[in-house]
Amino acid sequence: MIKTSITGMSFHVPEHIVTNADLEEMMDTSDEWIRTRSGIQERRWVKEGEGASDLSIIASESAMANAGVKSSDIDMVIAATVSSDYYFPGVAVQLQEKMGMDTIGAFDLRVGCSAFIYGLSVADQFIKTGQCKTILLVGTDVLSTVLEKNPIGRDVGVLFGDGAGAVILQPSENDSGVLSTHMHSDGKYMKELWVELPGSKFKDRGFSNELMEQRRHRLFMNGREVFRHAVKRFPEVIQEALDTNNLTLNDVAQIIPHQANRRITEAVAKRMGVGTDLIYSNIHRYGNTTAATIPIAMCEAFEEGKFSAGDHIILAAFGSGFTWASAAIKW
Ligand code: ACO
Repeated sequence: MIKTSITGMSFHVPEHIVTNADLEEMMDTSDEWIRTRSGIQERRWVKEGEGASDLSIIASESAMANAGVKSSDIDMVIAATVSSDYYFPGVAVQLQEKMGMDTIGAFDLRVGCSAFIYGLSVADQFIKTGQCKTILLVGTDVLSTVLEKNPIGRDVGVLFGDGAGAVILQPSENDSGVLSTHMHSDGKYMKELWVELPGSKFKDRGFSNELMEQRRHRLFMNGREVFRHAVKRFPEVIQEALDTNNLTLNDVAQIIPHQANRRITEAVAKRMGVGTDLIYSNIHRYGNTTAATIPIAMCEAFEEGKFSAGDHIILAAFGSGFTWASAAIKW
């Protein structure tokens, strides 16, 4: 059976750094509160007029250079994102057009923080069946533009950053590559982490003063529910990846989780009986960049030498939906 290999990867974050001290000025918060509750020290926010596609193009061009492929080699684009520049169409078609690709299949996957692994799973099927030879998968989100940068929005406003990470996926030439992927969801918790508007249930998609005054277009999170489910689902789905491949935690060089919150990562490490050094974290630098956290973390973990050729790594995510997912990869 053909395996799917990551032959190139890169990421891009906006230039503008927003520190916890900057947020203290806007949100009636404190560096101490943010650090102890989330581990975040700074994040990047886009400048006016910059969208998810702009970050994605830079990450994608760099990933393509890393893989040694040209735009004309790409035969599918998948953008994992909930924050396309526009309500529709999505980011993937903008990449197709702006990067001068052929009229290939290009589509977005709206699965919140789990979207990059969902996208990897979809891409893996197309590579394994031989239908595609070179897929560009981007995880990107810009949520800073739906955050309230004032004291009302401080509960979620301190957590999120913007970014994009891209990978090139091609058939493996040896026994390395994606070994398995697992996707899960439980929609009964959809309202625990959501942005309600714009929505097709509402006249004019909900762009009325009345609904906006009710903050229905803002990100809502029930932090305690997210925490409670995340610390259960992360270990479950990591274990699922291990069991499927007859691996144990001792066989794994690095677990790369969605960077939701340092406290979640620490609780997962405790539950799984491993040191936090096995579970990669860079949340202090970027905050939670939603679908971009995993490819960004994967790039940085690799650059830092946390894993190398022949090593096993596990990607794991939990997020809005709720959805959760994992992937086992032999690098
Ligand atoms: N700065 C200062 N104080 C704040 C802030 C802030 N940014 N936000 C809330 N507070 C206050 C609250 O108003 C409250 O004050 P009160 O006691 O006077 O009423 C107090 O802090 C405690 O508020 P809680 O909501 O109970 O805070 P908690 O200790 O539960 O921590 C947190 C909140 C960090 C969100 C926690 O629930 C958590 O870790 N949840 C996990 C969710 C998460 O991290 N999600 C990431 C995004 S989702 C994803 O990626 C899957």
